[in-house]
Amino acid sequence: MAAARDTSARAALRIASAEDIPAILAIERASFASPWTEKMFADELKNEWSNVWVAEAGEPRRVVAFTVFWVACDEIHVLNVAVAPEERRRGHARLLLRSILAFGEHRRLSHVVLEVRPSNLGAQRLYQSLDFRPVGVRPRYYQDNGEDAILMVRMLRR
Ligand SMILES: CC(C)(COP(=O)(O)OP(=O)(O)OC[C@H]1O[C@@H](n2cnc3c(N)ncnc32)[C@H](O)[C@@H]1OP(=O)(O)O)[C@@H](O)C(=O)NCCC(=O)NCCS
Repeated sequence: MAAARDTSARAALRIASAEDIPAILAIERASFASPWTEKMFADELKNEWSNVWVAEAGEPRRVVAFTVFWVACDEIHVLNVAVAPEERRRGHARLLLRSILAFGEHRRLSHVVLEVRPSNLGAQRLYQSLDFRPVGVRPRYYQDNGEDAILMVRMLRR
């Protein structure tokens, strides 16, 4: 009998490159009703204030999740985080976000902000579990359906 493979092995994070865009796009399109375009990801890879990270897992390794965040002055703004549907609830998003928090603390930044849809209860639970707190509402923030955004903030230890 073939040896069982450990598919629960922890994902590895790395900085994304242009070669990752097809895998990122596939996850993006499977995750959002109004997905970002290829050009939007290509632009983020060029922006000096933007960071695009991917998580790899499985055997052979493949991209299973990604995040995009900006660093502006002492603030991190998480613009995007998504996990391949078949890879969810395995801790990949938690790992990405914890790594962003560690990155911010290492750089002595002040806080992390992000927006989340009121209808996205899973994501809200994820953020709350990492001590993000709701601090306000951006009315009609999402252009596809006019949904408000909940603004959440996580202070960093300095
Ligand atoms: C939201 C999303 C990024 C979570 O990714 P994930 O890798 O599945 O999340 P994790 O496995 O790291 O979950 C960590 C914790 O968050 C919470 N959580 C995550 N997804 C949840 C869900 N669908 N329902 C309830 N709680 C959820 C749980 O507390 C979970 O811990 P547990 O599995 O031990 O109970 C993923 O579902 C996704 O890509 N969704 C579509 C895109 C999206 O909504 N992005 C966020 C936009 S703001």
